[in-house]
Amino acid sequence: MKDAGEQLAHSTSSASLRRSEERSKQIEAEIDKDPSKFRVLTGDRPTGNLHIGHYFGSLANRVELQNKGVETWVLVADYQVITDRDETGPIRERVYSLVADYLAVGIDPAKSVIFNHSMVPALNQLLLPFLSLVTEAELLRNPTVKSELEATGNRALSGLLLTYPVHQAADILFCKANLVPVGKDQLPHLEQTRVVARRFDERYGRAVPEEPVFPQAEALLSKASLLLGMDGHKMSKSRGNTIEIGMSADETAKRIKKAVTDADRHITYDPENRPEVSNLVLLAALTSGRTPQEVAEEIGDGGAGQLKKLVTESVNEFFAPIRARRAELAANPDYLREVLYAGISKANERADLTLDEVRQAMGMVY
Ligand code: TRP
Repeated sequence: MKDAGEQLAHSTSSASLRRSEERSKQIEAEIDKDPSKFRVLTGDRPTGNLHIGHYFGSLANRVELQNKGVETWVLVADYQVITDRDETGPIRERVYSLVADYLAVGIDPAKSVIFNHSMVPALNQLLLPFLSLVTEAELLRNPTVKSELEATGNRALSGLLLTYPVHQAADILFCKANLVPVGKDQLPHLEQTRVVARRFDERYGRAVPEEPVFPQAEALLSKASLLLGMDGHKMSKSRGNTIEIGMSADETAKRIKKAVTDADRHITYDPENRPEVSNLVLLAALTSGRTPQEVAEEIGDGGAGQLKKLVTESVNEFFAPIRARRAELAANPDYLREVLYAGISKANERADLTLDEVRQAMGMVY
């Protein structure tokens, strides 16, 4: 068998990406048959407000999984904020803003567990045995860590940035999740998680080898087409090209008004050759439940002005109930705190059980 570390280095190759895509499709079908086979963990770093790219790229899918009956854990990864920056910033506000976003879009605290990992000591303690299972070379060649380091202008690599994929393994394995909805960029981390799980059992494993302590977690790749920002570049807060879930209808209209288009008045859906116009068409389609082709045909020779008008109406109409609910939630900090603390309590219960198993397996029982 190939060394697991070698596999990790190759995990972003196109062949393995295709395999992950195919496997994701199979998993979708398996979920429809028997959702109880899966436990999902997903999460976000609390670095800013969530935008409609997050909504269509991942949040809507989480809600769908939850509503299909898949046990879902939603993590606010607050320690991950300091992997590549010096300050925690307004972390408290951001954590609660994320909780409000989650609830507003339909994550239901009666069905899903929302928690932040800094409040779950046993989860974090898993990092110590897990770090013993990986080598410095493996950590240094993680492609996502490398590109994140470059994105910070080549500042010194902190120990936390270097090891955060292993911390993320603890996020996933503390609750024994076997399914992680992710974008392609996170595939190397999932491979790292599987390596950690496998090596834990090889090294410290229990007497009964067919009962591993940790599952092999698989990726569920997003099916949604990627939404671009209003300038045609990747949607990101720092570019000011996002539409946040919590924005007002007026702010949304302003952002869409400024959107980049092109000189051709005839509107078509052609993402390859007309990325900016097609992105607006896609956005109208996603928010009105139609296909992009239908939207493009409706506008026809109406030009960018008419397209933007349609996009604005349709985005604002789609997000109106979500925004109303978000405003209600934001006005009720006690409720948000209650939800978060209930999630933290469930996460602690689960993490304590897992850490006990780990101690047993390692013979560290006193
Ligand atoms: N790295 C993820 C992000 O940047 C957040 C995250 C932390 C996560 N731990 C995780 C995602 C575990 C999936 C599984 O959005």
